[in-house]
Amino acid sequence: MSKYITTPIYYVNGEAHIGHAYTTFIADTMARYEKLKGEDTYFLTGTDEHGQKIEESAQKSGKPTQEFADEISAGFKNLWDEFEINYDKFIRTTDEDHKKGVQKAFEAMHNKGDIYKDFYEGHYCVSCETFFTEMQLVDGEFCPDCGRGTNIIKEESYFFRLSKYEDALLKHYSDNPDFIMPRSRANEVINFVKGGLRDLSVTRTSFTWGVGMPESIKDDKHVMYVWLDALLNYITALGYGTTEENMRYWPASVQFVGKDILRFHAIYWPAFLMSLDLPLPKHIGAHGWWTRDGEKMSKSKGNVVSPREVANAYGVENLRYFMLREVPFGQDGDFSQRAFIDRINSELSNDLGNLLNRIIGMSGKYSDFEIDSKDVLKYHKRELDAMNLVLDSLDSYMENLQTHRYLEELWKLFSIANKSIEEHAPWVKMKENKKNEALATVALVANILAKASIMLFPVMPKTTNTIADALNFKIDNASYRELVIEKKLLKLFNIKVVPPLFPRVEEPLMAEAPLAQPNIDSAKESQDSLKEQDNLIEIGQFFETSLKVGVVVEAKEVPKSKKLLKLQVDLGEDKPRQVVAGIREFYTPESLINTQVCVVANLKPAKLMGMISEGMLLAAKDEDGLCLVRPEKPKKAGTPIG
Ligand code: MSP
Repeated sequence: MSKYITTPIYYVNGEAHIGHAYTTFIADTMARYEKLKGEDTYFLTGTDEHGQKIEESAQKSGKPTQEFADEISAGFKNLWDEFEINYDKFIRTTDEDHKKGVQKAFEAMHNKGDIYKDFYEGHYCVSCETFFTEMQLVDGEFCPDCGRGTNIIKEESYFFRLSKYEDALLKHYSDNPDFIMPRSRANEVINFVKGGLRDLSVTRTSFTWGVGMPESIKDDKHVMYVWLDALLNYITALGYGTTEENMRYWPASVQFVGKDILRFHAIYWPAFLMSLDLPLPKHIGAHGWWTRDGEKMSKSKGNVVSPREVANAYGVENLRYFMLREVPFGQDGDFSQRAFIDRINSELSNDLGNLLNRIIGMSGKYSDFEIDSKDVLKYHKRELDAMNLVLDSLDSYMENLQTHRYLEELWKLFSIANKSIEEHAPWVKMKENKKNEALATVALVANILAKASIMLFPVMPKTTNTIADALNFKIDNASYRELVIEKKLLKLFNIKVVPPLFPRVEEPLMAEAPLAQPNIDSAKESQDSLKEQDNLIEIGQFFETSLKVGVVVEAKEVPKSKKLLKLQVDLGEDKPRQVVAGIREFYTPESLINTQVCVVANLKPAKLMGMISEGMLLAAKDEDGLCLVRPEKPKKAGTPIG
């Protein structure tokens, strides 16, 4: 059976960062793993180059859009090439074949009756290239995904009958519980679909940087919606709608995506495929988000980790190991130099690197570098059995995308090896004239190292090739079968001396995140305080605001809002006021009943998610969260604050 593994295609509006590198590393590891096992495997990555966001970024840079896209796309490709990412194809959505394939798909959906023309009026977030309903917006205005402001757009549009596929999607999720991995992420998707799917606007007339309509439809005003265009890359890359050359790889075995784009891949994408009568991917693997030193990375904070910078300082293979070992697949991960250095020193340098040095040293001393496995079974059956148990357990971790467990288990091999050296102390055996026993232990360790290297190859291809070279074998499907599956031992060979694989790292090799640098902080602070001085107000201005003590008499969650609670607050008036507040992440409704709050009481009423809000609560928010501001001692409802 063939395997097809994909990464998302990266937007060409910025440079690659460590989150992009992570997706690419896992996908590359998985593809190398399948190839090692002898599977006919195709690995795709590339760039997503259309849409308003890219058009706007190009305009800002003052370059023609295609030239801008060419440069950034080349930046991604060069980085992956430097990192020796073993992709089979790097697709660009500006490739002619891709555009033809997208038009073919659009035509097929249209012919099937799944695409129709209508008008769209809605709130559009340019950054996410997504329409939202008023109900979905935060505070009636902001994008629920990225928090940026949205624009109201009314335009003629072609629609895809997404609603038609609601039941089929739900059935697919329930028949295939591993469609979304990890399983813990499936609920958010299922609930979204259960909440009702609206037909999807799949063309735009407000800009031109996109794939045009198919000839047969002839409607030149429209270009394709960037997500329709982008998702189809996974099949156009195989020749869908053009050569059909590699369509035998479809359906994909696993499509890696970040959690933020799971909805597009687990709802829209399968619906498009159903419409095209194509099978659905076996798994959508949604990984978590990377932060730096516990902080969200952003260009404005200047704390984005550049994968090239890390690779230059620490080596790309060490970075691959760290990222895949550090986080359970699906969970968020944190990049810190401290944690990275700890893993390099203890796991790579101590556990693995030293092991190789030790057997090179011992075999040099005891047998002129010759290693012979003939007595390993005789003296080390127990260790061989333990080793085989570990080797047999590994496949299921990798197939379940649990790279951290895979590596954790794999490392047990090194502790078996290290322990056997301590227990059997070959240097003592040599003194006791038991040379065969001493050499058997050295050969046992060489065999463990060889087998572990094969299994570590997908994560650290270059390093493990160096180990294999020292142990006189090649890592490929043949050695995988012989040494891992058939459990054979290494033939008689001479070990090569290699320099230490993982020099210890004594101190951070890169500058820390810019936020930690005091000069930048203080420059920003003084700027802020100047700004504050510009904003000084008269006392009268302050008293224009009516602040009052209120008592919460009722509190309810707002359906479909993660942030809002609907409160009834007694301000000593005829009846309580309704206040819709964005505090749901920090307070349960029950915990608020009968508590006191401070309310801005003379605000013009506002509508939030269709509900009137007649006041605003005072609250303080920092990086630890939000807390309400309350009177120090209970006061009567309606007491003025001043
Ligand atoms: N172009 C779309 C994907 C289209 S796929 C048909 C896109 N591009 S992106 O460049 O914005 O993001 C690409 C991937 O990087 C996404 O999977 C996203 O989750 C991932 N990451 C972006 N920032 C990240 C972190 N800080 N951490 C981990 N991954 C993150 O979305």
